[in-house]
Amino acid sequence: MYPRAFRVDINPYECFGVRLPIVERMSQTRFITLEGGEGVGKSTLMTGLCEWLTQRGINVRQTREPGGTPIADAIRQLFKSPPGGEAITAEGEALLVSAARTQHVVNVIRPFLHSGNWVICDRFADSTRVYQGLFGGVPLNELEWLIKFSTAGLEPDLTFLLDCDVSLSAQRIGGRKSSGEIAPNERYDNAAQHVHDRLREGFRKVAGFYPSRFFILDASRSKDDVLRQACKELERRWQL
Ligand code: TMP
Repeated sequence: MYPRAFRVDINPYECFGVRLPIVERMSQTRFITLEGGEGVGKSTLMTGLCEWLTQRGINVRQTREPGGTPIADAIRQLFKSPPGGEAITAEGEALLVSAARTQHVVNVIRPFLHSGNWVICDRFADSTRVYQGLFGGVPLNELEWLIKFSTAGLEPDLTFLLDCDVSLSAQRIGGRKSSGEIAPNERYDNAAQHVHDRLREGFRKVAGFYPSRFFILDASRSKDDVLRQACKELERRWQL
C-alpha cells in the first residue's frame, strides 16, 4: 500500500469531474449485509432499505442466513432446534452454517448479483466470526479458512452493524415476543445479559477488523432515524 500522500483516490462515479449518468452509476450490483445481536432491528431496516432502493430504480433482493435455499432452510431448522435437544458444539455450528452458506452463495446470492440485482442479506459470515468465533471459542484463523471455502471468496461491499445497549434490545425482544410478532429464539432470547454483552462486544470488535466495509448504526434511535443514517451512508458511498 502506498503512503496516503502518493495515492490517487479515483471516484468511479465521475469522469474528469463530470458526474456519470445515473444509469451508469447504478449498473454495478452491490452485496450488503446487516449484522448485530438479537433484537437490534435488522428486519425493520431491511424493509426500509429495500423500499428506498426500489424507489431509486434499483432491483433489490432480500435474503437471510442461515437459510435462503431449501437445503439452507432445512439446516437453519436443525441449527435453531437441534433434534433431541442435543447440544451442538461451536465447531458443529460453524460447519452447519457454512454448509448452508455455500448453498446460499452458489444458488441464490451470486445468481442474483449476476442478473443485476443488489442483494441485502440479514446476517452473513460476520455472524459466524462473532457467534462461533469470539463467543463460541472457535479460533478465528480456522473460521477464516472455512468462511473463504464456503463463500468462494464472496465478501459484502458494505455491512451495516446495528449497535445498541443490550437492555434496549432485550426490551424490544420481549415486546415482539409477547405480541406474537416473532418466534422465540430459545438459544439466545433467555440468555443472561452478559451473553448479549459479549455478542455486542464481538460485533464491535469484528467491525474494527474491517473498518472500510463496516458502517455502525446507532440502533437506539427510532426506526426512521436508523433508516435515515443507513440511506445517507449509501448516498455517500455510491452517490445514489
Ligand atoms: P435470526 O435469523 O433470528 O437472527 O437467527 C439466527 C441465529 O443464528 C442467531 O441467533 C445468530 C445465529 N447465527 C450463528 O450463530 N452463526 C451464523 O453464522 C449465522 C448466520 C447466524
